[in-house]
Amino acid sequence: MSAHGPAQPLTAVKATGLSGEAHVPGDKSISHRSLILGALSVGESRIRGLLEGDDVLATANAMRAFGADVSRSEAGEWTVHGVGTGGFAEPEDVIDCGNAGTGVRLIMGAMATTPITATFTGDASLRSRPMARITDPLALFGATSYGRSKGRLPMTIVGAASPVPVRYTLPVPSAQVKSAVLLAGLNAPGETVVIEPEATRDHTERMLRGFGATLNVEDTPEGRVITLTGEPELKPQSIDVPRDPSSAAFPVCAALIVEGSDVLVPNIGLNPTRAGLFETLRDMGADLAYENLREVGGEPVADLRARFSPEMKGIEVPPERAASMIDEYPILSVVASFAEGQTVMRGVKELRVKESDRIDAMATGLRANGVAVDEGEDWWTVTGLGPSGVPGGATVAARLDHRIAMSFLCLGLAARNGVTVDDASPIATSFPVFQSLMEGLGASFRHAGA
Ligand code: S3P
Repeated sequence: MSAHGPAQPLTAVKATGLSGEAHVPGDKSISHRSLILGALSVGESRIRGLLEGDDVLATANAMRAFGADVSRSEAGEWTVHGVGTGGFAEPEDVIDCGNAGTGVRLIMGAMATTPITATFTGDASLRSRPMARITDPLALFGATSYGRSKGRLPMTIVGAASPVPVRYTLPVPSAQVKSAVLLAGLNAPGETVVIEPEATRDHTERMLRGFGATLNVEDTPEGRVITLTGEPELKPQSIDVPRDPSSAAFPVCAALIVEGSDVLVPNIGLNPTRAGLFETLRDMGADLAYENLREVGGEPVADLRARFSPEMKGIEVPPERAASMIDEYPILSVVASFAEGQTVMRGVKELRVKESDRIDAMATGLRANGVAVDEGEDWWTVTGLGPSGVPGGATVAARLDHRIAMSFLCLGLAARNGVTVDDASPIATSFPVFQSLMEGLGASFRHAGA
């Protein structure tokens, strides 16, 4: 099944010596937030380096439907003319967020404290994902929701006419839930407080401050306590979207497992709430250097140099690191397949409710390619076969999940017999230039029938 139109099977062929520079696209999390916060400010924001993947383009369309003026110049700079907090208009049609969990959840939060009604849907993957984690806190503000069974899309949200601020402790470690509550809090009077027992990516907090909101963050024994003062006037910003560490993960990891590789991935943010994968790879013995380490916009940034690493060892990934690498477990499990010994990943129940059940998707595909995987509800292990030990040769299901598709294509670049993904089209949601970028490093892919 494909997101749009027929499935696009793709085979990755065993490669030798990936080399060169890989300029990965803009950060998906920051791209969604730039458009939404731009739409909630008064005046014109400019965004450079926006990720032009399907997920983010769906958010741009949604912001237009809520009344913001969103346009792209020929040079690729985006402009958002915002309507101000509480200024969203009622959309005339259903909002289709495609494959984007971040898009739909943040937008639901952003509209829930405005007295308008909106109906949301998405592709088969998004329609299967849990939304009660968002609608439960939004109900505390006074919003009402009507969805399918188990809180799934399509879903209609009736925004609160007289919103009240909330104090909410996150029941799951989710930056999407945290962000939805904070965005809803923008149009509620008084202080909205979110408590997160485990720290998750903090882009919303940083960007809200950048747009002029008053936000206080305190580390306490119960976790991070984030206090937002409601009803600010958000001021338009000029934003340079940094490159996406979650996309950088693919060329970095491919270089570590393909013999003879030496790849540079410039300008990658190492915000500690996002950089868990790179630490884990280094713990495994990967030859991964942070070159030209510097600070940009108050955040650590480096050029990542990854070289073929035949001596990596399986490790127990610290569970407290899970939130900072939650999107990277699929590609980590690929690297673990080429390490010596077992890699143990615990505390990762959230992987079961991503674009697919990522533990099941990876376990099934890795086993089909000759790698032993063991799993439980919130943990899994991969037993590595060493640098040249993975047979490969199987066709795996991408399950409408970009990261599953890219992970198995990276596996195929290093496995003895390559790997075929049944549908590579979901890759366009987050990394539209994945194939050409990897080919530029020396990878080769075959389309079905070619
Ligand atoms: C994201 C948060 C994470 C992550 C997703 C992007 C965000 O989801 O998996 O790809 O931009 O806030 P959860 O908040 O559900 O963990």
